[in-house]
Amino acid sequence: MHKIMTDLHQDHVNLAKLLKLLEQQAGLLATGGDADLLLMTDIADYIRRYSDQIHHPKEDSIYRVFSARSDAAESVVGALLAEHQDLPATTREFQGLLDNVINDSAILSRQELQDKITAFIDAQKAHLNTEEAELFPLINSTLDAADWIAVEQSVEEHSDPLFGHQLMERYRNVHRLVMQQRA
Ligand SMILES: [Fe+2]
Repeated sequence: MHKIMTDLHQDHVNLAKLLKLLEQQAGLLATGGDADLLLMTDIADYIRRYSDQIHHPKEDSIYRVFSARSDAAESVVGALLAEHQDLPATTREFQGLLDNVINDSAILSRQELQDKITAFIDAQKAHLNTEEAELFPLINSTLDAADWIAVEQSVEEHSDPLFGHQLMERYRNVHRLVMQQRA
């Protein structure tokens, strides 16, 4: 597997860990506890900053090279590219909603907040599961060395502010909880 695909797969593994944290928060609300709004807004911030702005554009470049090489999974590729266009707005909306709840400018029932969190998790999960299950295997078996050179020339490497070498201060708490999850 090309290193770019290994890295993208790792991004999905990392994102799944964050979705697990969000699930725990939705679970707290479901059982009468309080959700950690700041934790959730930090997770949304990371998804906006990394998944939406760095991870998805990298996949877009690969999907375009793949489309030029193969007609397989044409509708899946189209749907995923469209989701890459739509997901940033979903993330911004989710983060905005959490910010409004934190600032008391939105008042949601526990059930409403739980539903919003669950809807966000489901959209993220459905997207990454389709990529992992349907498209990544096809990409890995279709693209050759020359294709990967073309991809390499079109993607930019960016560091990951949560799972990379340098942790962004804002994500210290999320990082600590992810580390505990692993233990
Ligand atoms: Fe992805």
